[in-house]
Amino acid sequence: MKIKSYLKGLSPYPPGKPIEELRRELGIKGPIIKLASNENPLGPSPKAIEAIKRGLKELHRYPEASGIELRQKLAQRFGLRGPEQVVLGNGSNEIIDLLLRCLVREDEEIIVSKPSFLMYEKFAAASGVLIKTLPLKDFHHDLGAMAQLVTEKTRIIFLDNPHNPTGSIIYHHEFASWLRDLPPDVVVVLDEAYGEFVRDPQVAKGLSFIYHQPTVVTLRTFSKAFGLAGLRIGYGLMHEALADVLNTIRQPFNVNKLALCAACASLEDKEYLKKVQQLVWQGLDFLVEAFEKLGCRPYPSQSNFLLVDLNRPARPIYEALLRQGVIIRCLEAYGLPTFIRVTVGLPAENQRFIELLSEVISGA
Ligand SMILES: Cc1ncc(COP(=O)(O)O)c(C=O)c1O
Repeated sequence: MKIKSYLKGLSPYPPGKPIEELRRELGIKGPIIKLASNENPLGPSPKAIEAIKRGLKELHRYPEASGIELRQKLAQRFGLRGPEQVVLGNGSNEIIDLLLRCLVREDEEIIVSKPSFLMYEKFAAASGVLIKTLPLKDFHHDLGAMAQLVTEKTRIIFLDNPHNPTGSIIYHHEFASWLRDLPPDVVVVLDEAYGEFVRDPQVAKGLSFIYHQPTVVTLRTFSKAFGLAGLRIGYGLMHEALADVLNTIRQPFNVNKLALCAACASLEDKEYLKKVQQLVWQGLDFLVEAFEKLGCRPYPSQSNFLLVDLNRPARPIYEALLRQGVIIRCLEAYGLPTFIRVTVGLPAENQRFIELLSEVISGA
C-alpha cells in the first residue's frame, strides 16, 4: 500500500471537548457547561424542529439532490441572480474542500493567516497543495502582507471574517481597495460563518462583491446563528460558473434531508434569529465587563465568542474549570499560552462560568 506522502504526519481536527467525554473522564455528575465550539446555546428554531419531525417520515427516500428549494430561498434572501449562485454543503466545511479540489493543483498554493480557522490548512494539506501562512497584525488579517505573498501559483486566499479565534473583522473600505490590486486568477474566500453576529456596519460583506466580482466567494453556515451544527449544513455564494463546477463534483446527496427541511424552516423564523442575536450581544457585553473586572483582557469581538488574555498561564485555569464541569478552549496550540477562547452561552451559563473563573483565579 502506498499512502500519498503528503498525507503522512497529518493530525485530525481537534474539536472542543465533547460533554460526554468530560463526564466519562472526570466522573462529573452535575450539569456541564460547554462554551468551547462557538455553538448556539438556544437550540434550533422551533420551526426547524417541527420541519424535522415532518421530514422523519420520509427518511426512506433520498434527499432532493439539487437542494433547489433552499437554494432558491437563499438566492431570494440575498438578492442574487438566482439559485445557480448557491452551493450547499455538508457544513460550510465541505465547500472549503470543494473549492480546493476545483481550484488548486498540487503544485499550486493557498494563503491563510495563522492562526485562523484550522480547516483551510487541514483540507489544503490533505489535497497536497502548498500552504503559505502569515501572522496576524494586531490580531487582524494583514491584508497588505498577504498581497505581497501572492505569486503566479496562488489560487485561493482564505479570510475568515469575523476571524476565528479573535473575533476581529475586515473593513469594507480596506477590503475593496485591496481586492482591486489582486491578480484576477486569485480567488478570495470570505468565510462568514459568524456573519449574523457582526454589529459593526463597516464590515466587508461578501454579498457586496459576489454580484459583480467573479473571484469573490462567500461562505455561510446554519451551524452558528441558526443552531443546526449537529445537522451539518452550510453554503457558498459565488459566481455561477464556479458554482456549477462545485455542484458537478460534489456528492449527489451531500446534504441530508432533515438538514434541508430544517434550514428552509429556520430561514422563515425571523423572530428566532433576532432572539439569538440579542442573546449573543447581551452575553458578549456581560462577559467583556466581567473579564475586565477580573483583570483579564478581552479583545473586541464581532462574533459569538471572545478571545481573552488571562495574563497568566491559561492551561491550569482551563483544567480547573474542566474539573468544575465548564469546557472552554485554551489556545497554546495557536502560540497563545495565556489566552482562552470562550463562546457566549445562556445567561445563567455565562454567570456560572464567570463565578467559577473568579474562584479559580483567586485560588491560583
Ligand atoms: C470560521 C469558521 N468557518 C467555518 C466553520 C465551519 O462551519 P460548519 O459547521 O458550517 O462546517 C467554522 C466552525 O467553527 C468556523 O469557525
